[in-house]
Amino acid sequence: MKICCLGAGYVGGPTMAMIAYKCPEHTVTVADINQSRIDAWNSDDLPVFEPGLDDVVKAARGRNLFFTSDKVTAIKDADIVFVSVGTPTKTYGMDSGQAADLKFVELCARDIAAYSDRSKIVVEKSTLPVKTAESLKTVLEANSSDHIDFQVLSNPEFLAEGTAVEDLNNPDRVLIGGEESPEGQKAIETLVDVYAGWIDREKIITTNIWSSELSKLVANAFLAQRISSINSISALCEETGADVDEVAFAVGTDSRIGPKFLKASVGFGGSCFQKDLLNLVYLCDHFGLPDVACYWRGVIEINDWQKRRFSKRIINSLFNTVNDKRIAMLGFAFKKDTNDTRESAAIYVGRDLLEEQAKLAIYDPKVSPKQIHLDLQAEEGSSRQDQIDICEDAYAAAEGAHALAIMTEWDAFKSLDYQKIYDKMMKPAFLFDGRNVANHKELREIGFRVYTIGR
Ligand code: NAD
Ligand code: UGA
Repeated sequence: MKICCLGAGYVGGPTMAMIAYKCPEHTVTVADINQSRIDAWNSDDLPVFEPGLDDVVKAARGRNLFFTSDKVTAIKDADIVFVSVGTPTKTYGMDSGQAADLKFVELCARDIAAYSDRSKIVVEKSTLPVKTAESLKTVLEANSSDHIDFQVLSNPEFLAEGTAVEDLNNPDRVLIGGEESPEGQKAIETLVDVYAGWIDREKIITTNIWSSELSKLVANAFLAQRISSINSISALCEETGADVDEVAFAVGTDSRIGPKFLKASVGFGGSCFQKDLLNLVYLCDHFGLPDVACYWRGVIEINDWQKRRFSKRIINSLFNTVNDKRIAMLGFAFKKDTNDTRESAAIYVGRDLLEEQAKLAIYDPKVSPKQIHLDLQAEEGSSRQDQIDICEDAYAAAEGAHALAIMTEWDAFKSLDYQKIYDKMMKPAFLFDGRNVANHKELREIGFRVYTIGR
């Protein structure tokens, strides 16, 4: 098979690298319109940080894995074209802040139609609103000649950042949806055969196309819902003396509930949970189901409230003013083991504190200073720039700080020398643990005033 993927981002890059690594008999070409991203994929410094990804890419790159900006040749040569471009929430015009922006996906469909001179399977890898396959098929058919048949499949991706390689290597399931026609079933079988190169066939679920598209949104909505559920309880724990981690453990040992995704936090981030929830809410409203929309909107509202609650706690604890005070932020990525900051809780809390005229000293092991400045709207020349100090390590960030806020659960933050940090800080020294990663008993013994989530 000749496989092409449009979009070399957090999903397209790792997913295609894994297919190429596991299936040397297929040739996989990943095409992107962003030349610098392609250059990075072809270098030793990959644009996506994921544990284990370097080895997978190095083993397959140049053998049967190629990164290119020549989408024309990549599309022309391919039997299967994956579409793995962004589907962000719309930020303009009608339904701004709600609907998914499908501009990039439609442009891919137009390119595929324009550059194909034979039939192909087109695979939706991006997360899309249910019924998008219909629009894709319409665009593909309206822009190509009659003898070409495009079979559109939905094959949503369930990997999580930070564990992408592990998730791709050994997924809970692979989901493939297609048309119920004989041609549709044949296309499904072709894609099943690719994944069966390393995944048990029992784990490959096939459905109709609408079930597949919707299942992806629902999976993310259920995961996000669990986090908002436990975060709402974290506030109640703080009022009552219950410990949210103990509650989560006690509740999660019920095999009907299960232990995963019950870690209370400063709020979920990442490029997808909020976007996909908004998309689900939009679809429910669109199909005349306002009560269902309202139910899922609540998951986002609790998440926004949790982030804001954390900012307020910092400000209130520091005697109701953070004006000119240095606040050290440890971690800026939306979770550990990734350099991705999209929708990170650190951005929201950081912006709240900047509004209050605080000075931020930020350290993250993987996020670039440029990205942090961009996220905090503090690019060169902006008045906010002198409010932000990007630090080499946690100790430099703590120097002269009134408070320390742990924003990301990087493993390294568990084993810091907190006595050394305490010694460098202004007194009283406050520590706000947004991820409940540090040893709070030890911190209190050192002298920190500790605020945790839900304890
Ligand atoms: P991303 O922004 O990291 O990557 C998208 C890439 O597509 C960019 O590099 C962009 O330059 C490229 N692109 C845009 N238009 C193009 C075109 N016409 N031709 C070729 N390339 C083009 O996005 P991502 O995080 O990889 O997400 C992609 C999709 O996968 C989204 O729908 C997302 O919801 C979904 N998803 C993401 C994750 C995740 O962990 N990030 C997990 C599962 C699903
Ligand atoms: C999530 C899903 O887990 C993936 O299955 C899905 O493919 C992906 O979205 C997507 O569609 O993009 P991701 O956002 O990469 O993956 O990472 P998660 O591990 O789900 O974490 C999301 C956020 O929730 C992070 O900010 C994390 O810190 C937070 N979280 C997670 C909690 O606050 N508590 C938890 O118990 C779990």
